[in-house]
Amino acid sequence: MPRLVVVSNRVGIPDGGTRAGGLEVAIRPALKRRGGVWFGWSGKITDEEPGKARTTLVENVSYVTVDMLRDDHEEFYNGFANRVLWPILHYRLDLAEFSRRDLGGYFRVNEYFARNLENLLRPDDVVWVHDYHLIPLARALRDRGHKNKIGFFIHIPCPPPEILTALPNHERLIPALGAYDVIGLQTETDAGNICRYFESECHVRRVEDGAFDFDGRHVRVGVFPVGVETEALARLARRAIETAFVREVLDSLSGRAMIIGVDRLDYSKGIPERLNAFESFLTHFPDWRGKVTYLQITPRSRTGIPEYADIGRVVGETAGRINGKFGEASWTPLRYINKAHSRTALAGLYRAARVGLVTPLRDGMNLVAKEYVAAQNADDPGVLILSRFAGAAQECVAALLVNPYDPEAVGAAINRALGMPLAERRERHAHNFRVLVKNDLTHWAERFLSALEGRPAPAPVQYVPRVASGH
Ligand code: UDP
Ligand code: G6P
Repeated sequence: MPRLVVVSNRVGIPDGGTRAGGLEVAIRPALKRRGGVWFGWSGKITDEEPGKARTTLVENVSYVTVDMLRDDHEEFYNGFANRVLWPILHYRLDLAEFSRRDLGGYFRVNEYFARNLENLLRPDDVVWVHDYHLIPLARALRDRGHKNKIGFFIHIPCPPPEILTALPNHERLIPALGAYDVIGLQTETDAGNICRYFESECHVRRVEDGAFDFDGRHVRVGVFPVGVETEALARLARRAIETAFVREVLDSLSGRAMIIGVDRLDYSKGIPERLNAFESFLTHFPDWRGKVTYLQITPRSRTGIPEYADIGRVVGETAGRINGKFGEASWTPLRYINKAHSRTALAGLYRAARVGLVTPLRDGMNLVAKEYVAAQNADDPGVLILSRFAGAAQECVAALLVNPYDPEAVGAAINRALGMPLAERRERHAHNFRVLVKNDLTHWAERFLSALEGRPAPAPVQYVPRVASGH
């Protein structure tokens, strides 16, 4: 089997640290199964010309990383990637802050990655590039003569052409996707949107279902919803709930039901809207006051970007206001914490929580939703409340699906989840769990890589409609 080279801005070097972010969580086990190379940014910013790439070999994976110049980091990461592409691809044109300088930095860092990859790539390597930071990377590699199979997977949403075309210089950037062999998206909607863009803006011919002819290059577009290690997580959660950490948390609840939310501190996650929904729940269902605790774990993210500082302020103020309004000397309704938690700690907390509250305004997939399902006790499971605007809603159809912009409806869903009879909880959980066992992380990586390498594809993704009564 050819060597696999994964490329992403964020690299999950096993350094013992706990970081939040779905890309890293997904790639690490997928790459470990096959072995190979993971290339990207070291996480270090430098004021001097960065030295050579550093390689760390851990078991069967070589982590090859490069530092980033301060200006590059500012323009590429804090600028174009996270102040232009991130908001626009999450349908937030109102938050996009475009500058030509940042666009220049974005292309410069992609060139820098391509230059470093040149010393690394062998002719028969299969290259798998991840996420919106690296849209033009394949173009830069092709310009250097690399003929490798190169695939691209975008972890975040892809909006319709009506929104994509509001991206200044989209005609320079998006058509660069035509240098990949396979382009993977999370949902049918995302894939349909990029196909529509290719037809209307790039005027490329569709040669067969989902494939386009970019100047003689056959580019396939496919749907590959990223999964979690469902069964391994279920086993981990069974152990994790017995740990001293989770026991201590449970003791501190004094028998109250727990609701859990876990998100990077990001405006796409709909955290202020969710807190307002919790407030609506406490207002309209006062019998629950004093009987429920909502734990919101929210590690800070992208702290050099003003919109992230703003959302941090709003969430902190809203949390304080709700606790001030409803709290008692003996009861804090909402525990809002910024500390990142380990995979084991989260697995135990998910299992201990009666409700998983996952209500992003827009999300490519949302792995937390899938992790919550995986971690439940099948005999007495908690209930997932899930935004219909998360990619995960395509598979977790037996969750309570909600509109995150409607706090009263989400508040009512919390009440329904807390009072849901055991039989219905079991039925909903079993449905979602079955789908997530089939569409797990291994399945995702295998399906993408076999499409890229031209091997026979494993079973298709399972989308199983729920037939039981009720929404
Ligand atoms: N995560 C974590 N520790 C934390 C918070 C989150 O390990 O304290 C992990 C979480 O378990 C999940 C990932 O970070 O696997 C977040 O992925 P998701 O797709 O939900 O959102 P993203 O952050 O990628 O937008
Ligand atoms: C999302 C993105 C990833 C990113 C992660 C964490 O999952 O899709 O590309 O790595 O968030 O964000 P960060 O900016 O810390 O890498």
